[in-house]
Amino acid sequence: VHARGLKLGIYGDLGTLTCGGYPGTTLDRVEQDAQTFAEWGVDMLKLDGCYSSGEEQAEGYPEMARALNATGHPIVYSCSWPAYQGGLPPQGEGCPVNYTVLAEVCNLWRNYDDIQDSWDSVLSILDWFFTNQDVLQPAAGPGHWNDPDMLVIGNFGLSYEQSRSQMALWTVMAAPLLMSTDLRTISPSAKEILQNQLMIQINQDPLGIQGRRIVKEKSLIEVFLRPLSQGASALVFFSRRADIPYVYTTSLAKLHFPEDAVYEVQDVYSGEIIRGLKTEDNFSVTVNPSGVVMWYLYPVAQPWRVVRQQAPHEGFRPVLL
Ligand SMILES: *[C@@H]1O[C@H](CO)[C@@H](O)[C@H](O)[C@H]1NC(C)=O
Ligand SMILES: *[C@@H]1O[C@H](CO)[C@@H](O)[C@H](O)[C@H]1NC(C)=O
Repeated sequence: VHARGLKLGIYGDLGTLTCGGYPGTTLDRVEQDAQTFAEWGVDMLKLDGCYSSGEEQAEGYPEMARALNATGHPIVYSCSWPAYQGGLPPQGEGCPVNYTVLAEVCNLWRNYDDIQDSWDSVLSILDWFFTNQDVLQPAAGPGHWNDPDMLVIGNFGLSYEQSRSQMALWTVMAAPLLMSTDLRTISPSAKEILQNQLMIQINQDPLGIQGRRIVKEKSLIEVFLRPLSQGASALVFFSRRADIPYVYTTSLAKLHFPEDAVYEVQDVYSGEIIRGLKTEDNFSVTVNPSGVVMWYLYPVAQPWRVVRQQAPHEGFRPVLL
C-alpha cells in the first residue's frame, strides 16, 4: 500500500467482536494488538466499539492511546467512543461524552451515524453537526478532530453538485478527508473534486479551526464560515432548494466581517478571482440546487496597514480569468 503512495489504515474494535463479527480487541489484548499494528506499518487505526460496555470503553480507549504511543510508531488514532455515548454531553449524570478527555486521547472521533451513499444521509449528518455546533466546534483543533465520516464522492448516490457540496462542507467542518470510493473506477469529475488543491489547503489550514454555520435562512440558503490562518477565511454558500438556482445577495458586513476591510476572493471551484471586495459591498452568488459556492477570502489592505502582499499559502496560484 505504501509503495502505491497511499497510507495504510486498519479497522478494529474494542470488544469481543467487531461490529461485523470478526475478532475484536479485548482489554487484555490492547497492547498486543497495538504492537502488531505498529509492526505491520499501520498509519491509522479506527477503533470501533461494538460488543463492549461503557466501562470497558472508558478504560480501553485511553489504554489503546497509551499502547499506540508506546510502540514508537506514529499511528493516527480514530475512536468511535463518543458515538457509543450518544455523541453529546447529556444534561444529567450517566456516561457523559467529555470532549476535553477525547481530545487528549484520540486524534479523531466518530460521534454520529455511519454515512450512507445518499444525499439524505449527508444532509442528516450536516444537520446534526451544525445544530450542535456550540458543543462540537470548540472540541476540534490540531491533532483532535470531529469526524462526520467519510466522503462518498465517486460512488453512486450523490449528484455532481451534491458531491461538490459534501467536499466543501466537510472542508469547512475541518473534517478529516477520508475517501470511500473505488480508486480504479473513479470518474474524472469526482477525482477533480477530491483533488482540488485550494480546497485541500483550506481543509489542512494550520490553525485547525472548525467552521460554523452563520446564516440559516428560510431553510433554503445557509452560509458557513471557517476562519483560516493569516486573516483568511472560507465561506460556503449552500442551497437546499431543489427547483432552481438560488441567487443570494448579501455583503461581508452582513456576514460580520470587520468594517473597512478589502478582500481578494477566489472561488474555490471555478478559480474566478474577485479583487477589491469591500466589506460593505453587496454581491450576489448563484447557488445551484443542493450545491454550493465556496469562496476563499483574504484581506489585501486595510486603511492602517497592508495585511498581506503575497499569496497566502505556499503553492497557492490564483487563476486569472
Ligand atoms: C508519544 O507521546 C509523546 C507525548 O505526548 C509524544 O511526544 C510522542 O511523539 C508520542 N509518540 C508517538 C509515536 O506517538
Ligand atoms: C471533562 O474532563 C476534564 C478532565 O478530566 C474535567 O476537568 C472536566 O470537569 C470534565 N467535564 C465534565 C463536564 O465532566
